[in-house]
Amino acid sequence: MTKKKSSDFRYNTGETKVPWAAVGENYNAKDLKQVVRFLMQGEGDAYQAAMSAVDQSIDALGKIATPPGKLSLGSHVEACEREVNAYLGTDSALFVTNATAGFEIAYKYANLQVGDEVIVPAITFVATMAYPVSIGAKLVFADLDPLTLNMDPKDVEKKITSKTKMIVPVHLGGYPVDMDPIMELAKKHDLVVLEDAAHAFGTSYKGRKIGTIADFTAFSLHEVKNCTSFGEGGILTTNVDAFKGEMSRARFLGLDFSGKIKDWLYDITAIQGKYGPFVASNNASTTELQAIGLSCQLKRYDKILAERRGAAEYLNRRFAGNDAILSQPLGDKETLPSFHLYLLQIDPAKAGGDVQILKKKLEEKGVTNIPHFGPLYRFDVLRQLGYNEDEIAKSCPVCEEVFYKRFTHLPVYGLTEEQLVYMADAVLESVKEMQAGK
Ligand SMILES: Cc1ncc(COP(=O)(O)O)c(C=O)c1O
Repeated sequence: MTKKKSSDFRYNTGETKVPWAAVGENYNAKDLKQVVRFLMQGEGDAYQAAMSAVDQSIDALGKIATPPGKLSLGSHVEACEREVNAYLGTDSALFVTNATAGFEIAYKYANLQVGDEVIVPAITFVATMAYPVSIGAKLVFADLDPLTLNMDPKDVEKKITSKTKMIVPVHLGGYPVDMDPIMELAKKHDLVVLEDAAHAFGTSYKGRKIGTIADFTAFSLHEVKNCTSFGEGGILTTNVDAFKGEMSRARFLGLDFSGKIKDWLYDITAIQGKYGPFVASNNASTTELQAIGLSCQLKRYDKILAERRGAAEYLNRRFAGNDAILSQPLGDKETLPSFHLYLLQIDPAKAGGDVQILKKKLEEKGVTNIPHFGPLYRFDVLRQLGYNEDEIAKSCPVCEEVFYKRFTHLPVYGLTEEQLVYMADAVLESVKEMQAGK
C-alpha cells in the first residue's frame, strides 16, 4: 500500500484490494474533448480537422488510460510548490486558491483583532484590506512614493501608533516597495509584515527575490497576472521559521494527519500564530490540474519576464523625448520589477492638462489604459463603517495628486509589435495634442 501523506486526505486509500475512489464521478473521454475545445479555441477547416484527430486520439486513450487517483492536493501540487521554492529561493511555498486566501492566513497569524491597526497603501486592490475590514480592525492608509506609487516608508513611520499590528506593503504593478525601511520599522515596533505581491511574482529587491524578505508574502496567480494556474491560484510564503510547519494545516481547516483522535482518521488542531493558537477557517486547497498549469508556466517564466521588460524598455525609449511624460522605473541589476503593468505618469504642468484628459484621448484612439487601482478610502464600504474620507484624503496628498492628475497603466504583454508601436504613438500624439491645447 502506498504510504499516506499529510496531503492525501479524501479517500486516497492507495493500493488496497478494494480502493475508495478519490475522484467522485470520473470524467470520461467525452468530457476531455470539451476541455480541449475550451482550452484550444478556433474555427475553420484546418481547426476542425485537427480537432477530429484529437478526438480520435482521446477515444483511443479512453480505452487504455486510467484516471488519476487524486485531483486535489496531490503530488503535482507538492511538485509545483518545490518548483516555486526553487524559483523564489524560499522553502515554504504553499499553493492556495488565491492571494486573498494567503492574506487571511497571515492576518490570522498576527491575531488581528477589533481595533488593531493595519497600515496599507492608499492605492491597492480591495483584496489587500478585505480581511482586516471584515473583522473590525482599523485600516490606516500610507501615502505613496510619487515615482513608484508604492507605499512611502516615511509616511508609514509617521502613521505607526501603539495600536499598529501589521504593515502590508503592495508591490504595485510589480515594482518593489522599498522594503528595508519597512522591515526596520517592523523590527523596531514588533509588527508583522505581509507583502501583497499579487503583481510581483519574480520581482527582486536589492538582490533578493520578493517572498524571501517579510514575515509573509502572497502572490496571485489569477488569470490576469504574469503567471497563472489555469485562471485562479495563489502562493503564500513565510520567513517565520516556527510557522513553516503550520502552513499546510492553515490551508485546509486545520486537518492534522500527523495524529488521530480515537477511532478516526485524523485530528484537527489549532494553528500556532504569533500570539497563540488560532483556528483555520478556510479551505484554500488547490487542484492537480492547477499545479500542472503553474509548473508549465514556471518553465517559461523568465522568457515572459524578459518580454515584459522589453516592452517597457521600448515604451521608455519612445517617451524619452517628451519631458511631460515620466516613464516607468526600470530598476537595475539588483532591483528587478516584474513589469506586470506599465506605469505611465505625466507632469500636468508640462503636458498642458491632467491625466483624465490623456485617458480620454487614449480611449478615443482605442488604447486600453486602466489606472489600477483606485484610492481605497473612496469606496463606500469604508464610509459605511465610519471612516472619514476627507480626513484620510488630506493625509495622503501624493495619492490624491497622482490618482486624479498623473497616472494610468498601460499593458505590456500579449501585444503584437504593431499594437505596441501604435500604443506608443497614441500616447505621444495625445500628449502633443494636449500641449497644443487641442
Ligand atoms: C494588488 C492586488 N492584491 C491582491 C489581489 C488579489 O489576488 P487574488 O485574486 O489572487 O486573490 C489582486 C488581484 O487582482 C491585486 O491586484
